[in-house]
Amino acid sequence: MEHMDKRTDYCGNITSKYEGQEVTLYGWVQRVRNLGNLVFIDLRDREGIVQVVVNKDSGKDLMSVADELGSEYVIEVKGKVVKRSSVNPDMKTGEVEVDATEIDILNKSKVPPFEIKNDITANEQTRLKYRYLDLRRPTLQRAIMLRAKIMRAVHEFFDENGFIDIETPILGKSSPEGARDYLVPSRIYPGSFYALPQSPQLFKQLLMGAGFDKYYQLARCFRDEDLRGDRQPEFTQIDMETSFLDEEGVQAYTEGLLKKVMKDVMGIDLKTPIQRITWEESMNKYGCDKPDLRYEMFIHDLSSIFKDSDFKVFSGAIADGGFVKGIAVKGGADKYSRKDIDKKADFIKRFHAKGLAWVKYEDGEFTGPVSRFLTDENKEALKKEFDLEGGELITFIADKWKVCCDSLDHLRREFAKETGIIPKGVFKFVWVVDWPLFEYDEGFGRWIAAHHPFTMPDDEGIKLLDTDPHKAHARSYDIVMNGDELGGGSIRIHKRSIQEKMLKALGFTEKRAYEQFGYLLDALDMGFPPHAGLAIGLDRFAMLLAEKDNIRDVTAFPKNASASEPMMHAPAPVAKQQLDDLGILVEEKYHESMEETEARLEKEAEEDAKENSTWNED
Ligand code: AMO
Ligand code: AMP
Repeated sequence: MEHMDKRTDYCGNITSKYEGQEVTLYGWVQRVRNLGNLVFIDLRDREGIVQVVVNKDSGKDLMSVADELGSEYVIEVKGKVVKRSSVNPDMKTGEVEVDATEIDILNKSKVPPFEIKNDITANEQTRLKYRYLDLRRPTLQRAIMLRAKIMRAVHEFFDENGFIDIETPILGKSSPEGARDYLVPSRIYPGSFYALPQSPQLFKQLLMGAGFDKYYQLARCFRDEDLRGDRQPEFTQIDMETSFLDEEGVQAYTEGLLKKVMKDVMGIDLKTPIQRITWEESMNKYGCDKPDLRYEMFIHDLSSIFKDSDFKVFSGAIADGGFVKGIAVKGGADKYSRKDIDKKADFIKRFHAKGLAWVKYEDGEFTGPVSRFLTDENKEALKKEFDLEGGELITFIADKWKVCCDSLDHLRREFAKETGIIPKGVFKFVWVVDWPLFEYDEGFGRWIAAHHPFTMPDDEGIKLLDTDPHKAHARSYDIVMNGDELGGGSIRIHKRSIQEKMLKALGFTEKRAYEQFGYLLDALDMGFPPHAGLAIGLDRFAMLLAEKDNIRDVTAFPKNASASEPMMHAPAPVAKQQLDDLGILVEEKYHESMEETEARLEKEAEEDAKENSTWNED
């Protein structure tokens, strides 16, 4: 299409290639420096900043316009690109400046509530309330544009590989993925509700039943769950499903996709195939199912070393069927004081650990409270097990397997961050395979599907469904990136009898299973092909590539940690008439005026700020 812009190029692109040319630019005033007979204006747009100069020779009118400028005024500038007398090597545009001949103020700006620059101290509430200003900051502009680049690469990849982009409904019926549903009341059927999709899982499976063979979608998903840095109530999945492919097939497409994104967005050649480790190995070595492979500091099982220990905390735990596990932190002996370690012991209480035992190894000696229990044999064994060189802090957890895993996983992550062993700009992917089919949910007090109820057990697992379902393994796989779960998928159940057994193992009666999933069970009876798929969290992918700590920084208009949106004030009460139409009566204790909503949001924001004082990504 013919270039319709009057703009010559973005401010951030005005390099020496434009030298000598007349240009027209649009942008926001970052800063004005008025030296009396010379005015420097830093003009900013989404691509960067260029210096504009107005001098006395430019004429009185221009000088008076320049005088009027303030931060965040939006202006049009015409001028000539000239070499700068003093080059600024830190700026892409640092070799040139624009000698202005015309400046047009398109709109003025009040003084913004925070400065438009990368490192600001404004709190979350203020940032989200003025999100359009927050988004002007270069770091967020880059993050949002990076996200767009990922999306473009994703569309290209699937298109090139014969996948069909199909939209699935937002107004649907609940599909159990483990979180609460967001509900939408129906006006036509008062008392009935649509559910917003937690993922398009069943629709995409039904599309395989419909013969579309290879589907993909950038799908909006909604989950009413407790929020964390890597979770938003609404988010986007790079969702795909295929017929007639097994694990290797789906994984190969996923790797192709990751390869293309890494190349197109980051200029990085991702080596494939990506390493695979089993769920069990991951739990034992890293303490979790989303291992961070950027650093080692593996968890070691020390139970055989300590089974006869005089330290009853150790031998007792083992006698009770538990484990003693530990990690060695290089340089930790010096770095961590007794007080620091006490803090860690407090920290791991939230994972139900009863305490944290530790020793230091320095100058060939073990020191610390537990060292007196170490026999010579124990000492030799520890040296060998951890390959001790001196200067290590070794921490131990004696407990049930799961408690050891959880606590040491979190300790490992903390120690790694604090000792600075995590390399910057490194992206490590790994497949975690061979998952259990079920996991026990302490909160619900029952077994739930580890992935989801439509995941195929392995061959042995199909047999176990009749006898001992909770021992079954699943044909599922997760793709993990830098210690975060990027995506997950599985081979799906395409036979009715297996799906029925699976639902039974999850505690569904035959009647309830049919009420909730009858359409799926019936569909499986009508020539349903074997199928498999996966979904990647786009927001998480963008967050990790942009090296941000929070997916809010790659989401244009995110919710805060209390799932509210302080700019438009969502969620908010609605007019009585709207509720009447829906047949909904809100309990009096929940009645809220606009002022009350605002006060509530303020309070929430204060609490978030206390809890999450580090939401400052720079
Ligand atoms: P799963 O529930 O594992 O699988 O979700 C897939 C990926 O979606 C991302 N994700 C989230 N991102 C941001 N905020 C959230 N609240 C959130 N929840 C999940 C994660 C996760 O790995 N239907 C299956 C996929 C399949 O089997 O094909 C599913 O939804 O990156
Ligand atoms: P106690 O004998 O309970 O005073 O504990 C002695 C040391 O062992 C303290 O440093 C505790 O933090 C630690 N400790 C207690 N229970 C455990 C446990 N289950 N695993 C690891 N260390 C523990």
